[in-house]
Amino acid sequence: MTGIDVFASTGLTTTHLFFAAGVLAATALVSWTFYVLFLDPLRDIPGPSWARWTRLWLLKEISSGQSHLTFPKLHDKYGPVVRVTPNLYSFNSLEDQKKIYKLKDPLAKTAYYDTGADPGVANIFTIRDEKEHSDRRRRIASLYTMTSMVNYEEAVDRMNATCVRKLEEFAKRRSAVDIPQFMQYYAFDVIGEISIDRSFGMMEGEADVDDMVKIAHGGAMYQGHVGIVPEIHPSFFQLRKMLGYVNEGSAINEVVNKQLEKHHQAVQTEKTDPKQEPFIQKVVKLKQLGKIADISIMDAIGGNFAAGSDTTGITLSAALYYLYHNPDKLAALRREIDAAAAAGEVSDPVTFKESQNLQYLGAVIQETLRIHSAAGYILERTVPK
Ligand code: HEM
Ligand SMILES: *[C@@H]1O[C@H](CO)[C@@H](O)[C@H](O)[C@H]1NC(C)=O
Repeated sequence: MTGIDVFASTGLTTTHLFFAAGVLAATALVSWTFYVLFLDPLRDIPGPSWARWTRLWLLKEISSGQSHLTFPKLHDKYGPVVRVTPNLYSFNSLEDQKKIYKLKDPLAKTAYYDTGADPGVANIFTIRDEKEHSDRRRRIASLYTMTSMVNYEEAVDRMNATCVRKLEEFAKRRSAVDIPQFMQYYAFDVIGEISIDRSFGMMEGEADVDDMVKIAHGGAMYQGHVGIVPEIHPSFFQLRKMLGYVNEGSAINEVVNKQLEKHHQAVQTEKTDPKQEPFIQKVVKLKQLGKIADISIMDAIGGNFAAGSDTTGITLSAALYYLYHNPDKLAALRREIDAAAAAGEVSDPVTFKESQNLQYLGAVIQETLRIHSAAGYILERTVPK
């Protein structure tokens, strides 16, 4: 025996212990393999072979930045249900989508969502408890009705004018422009006009402001990766904090607080016209009336900043990308708009209402969302027992 005799009284040596641990580990591995191959009730669901054994396969796919292309390919190869980790499945049939994302008695979100906020401070996007979610949602729902959205049309028109002017400027300067980046600046500026009554001036300055683009990107990267192994979120979050990384959840809160302070300090010429009243004024009023708490202000303003710009920027640049790679479709879209203008069916700028009659435009938007979904990952849900 070569082991150090630390358990002299029991007659055991560390060699015995290592041996026992080895036997236990081997038994666990064999039983788990047996379970995966022969007992798992879902063992027949097809998918990439590594996905059956480990979440690392999915993590690798996400890291590649190409998972939005991988998922459709997997469905072409394996059919409507594909295993992507030992217990996560991707569904792509309309019937299944309807069952999974039903509005009544919805299936609960998974722990993937926890990683979209600081541990213990859920936002409207990450809350998993359905009762809590519908309560938080109800408090700000009036701000998001179709009528109140359409009221912000003038704000969008203003930013459209800036966008078109800047694009013309780029063309005159003959300078290359990073369309995904510029469209994100556009989206942030629109969200600024709507939420705080002031564009962030990103398009004008051709630059990020208050690191918001960086924060949105960092948040998506964090959730994309850590979301696959969400059990490490609380400790990984603390570790990052200790190492001096600014966490995205806290960063967005800071940006919102800064805007609230500015709002309170500004001499308020109150804009009561619903076409003018900014989001921030509406939520501050609700707060003063005691109808909502600070957390709901974060849900609304922080939600707009965090959820409303990446998605819109990505979708707009994808639409431009596919239109310019399919000149016949671009020509068809132009024909539709020109014909409507010639017939006096649309004004300049085109109103939201008028645009609803532009069928080809609607198809372009739907098709863009289909082939380049801005949320390029599974919206994970838990199957009830
Ligand atoms: C093309 C544009 C957009 C796309 C594709 C998109 C996509 C989505 C998707 C798929 C979800 C559900 C997420 C889930 O179940 O995990 C969601 C939720 C949400 N989105 Fe968007 N979105 C877009 C624009 C916006 C805008 C402009 C805003 C705000 C101004 C916004 C705010 C939100 C909020 C607050 C939630 C959470 C709602 C809740 O859980 O009750 N989104 N979005
Ligand atoms: C955007 O601005 C351009 C140039 O002023 C205008 O022709 C176009 O109708 C506007 N688009 C929308 C959707 O308002």
